[in-house]
Amino acid sequence: MSIFLDTGKISEVERFMEMGIIRGVTTNPTILLKDGVTGGMAGVRKQSIQIAKMIEPYPLSVEVTNNDPRGMLDQAREFAQWAENIVVKITIHGPEGELENLEVVHRLETEYDVRINVTAMMSAQQCFLAALAGASYVSIFGGRVNNMGYNVCDEIIKLRNVLDQFELKSKIIVASTREILNVIEWLEAGGHIVTVLPALLEGMVVHPYSKETVKMFLDDAARL
Ligand code: E4P
Repeated sequence: MSIFLDTGKISEVERFMEMGIIRGVTTNPTILLKDGVTGGMAGVRKQSIQIAKMIEPYPLSVEVTNNDPRGMLDQAREFAQWAENIVVKITIHGPEGELENLEVVHRLETEYDVRINVTAMMSAQQCFLAALAGASYVSIFGGRVNNMGYNVCDEIIKLRNVLDQFELKSKIIVASTREILNVIEWLEAGGHIVTVLPALLEGMVVHPYSKETVKMFLDDAARL
């Protein structure tokens, strides 16, 4: 079980790597845009290579930027050349439910030896099929599922059971964190990994009562 950092910011990756608490990084086009990456594909390449180098041998997930089967295949193969620890993210299907994505995933994993993280999934059944297609990682979007009124823990429990039962190698990444309690809750439910926003990770460390206790120790140490 481990924690990945859900960010495109170099400074955040550096901060949490130095603390020794993260075992990978995930990005997507929305995160990269929000974190100030510009310059089109050249910008994505530069940022990805820098992050991949900082965290090696841990994995960095980088998402393809189109939904054309040929385009996804070519782009995934290109991303995989940027660094050995790059994992390529491909969505479970296209914006209109196009089904070619799983075929692309299967080919990349079996013919081209590219590690794939199938993303944007909201249910155990979607993740199960992505795992059967050969994905190294299956990402279920916990916060989005909860926002639809379902408890993602139920999906994680079911998914972990079927993956273990069928002896599938895919690792479950629970993504889309919204609250600090998501991390332990989703790992406890059976997620192999939770990818966490930097602000939430910081919030996990700091506790008001710990602050007060440390202050007491320091004040009393001064009075000794
Ligand atoms: C990470 O792999 C996901 O892309 C990310 O956590 C999605 O987060 P969101 O649901 O807040 O967009």
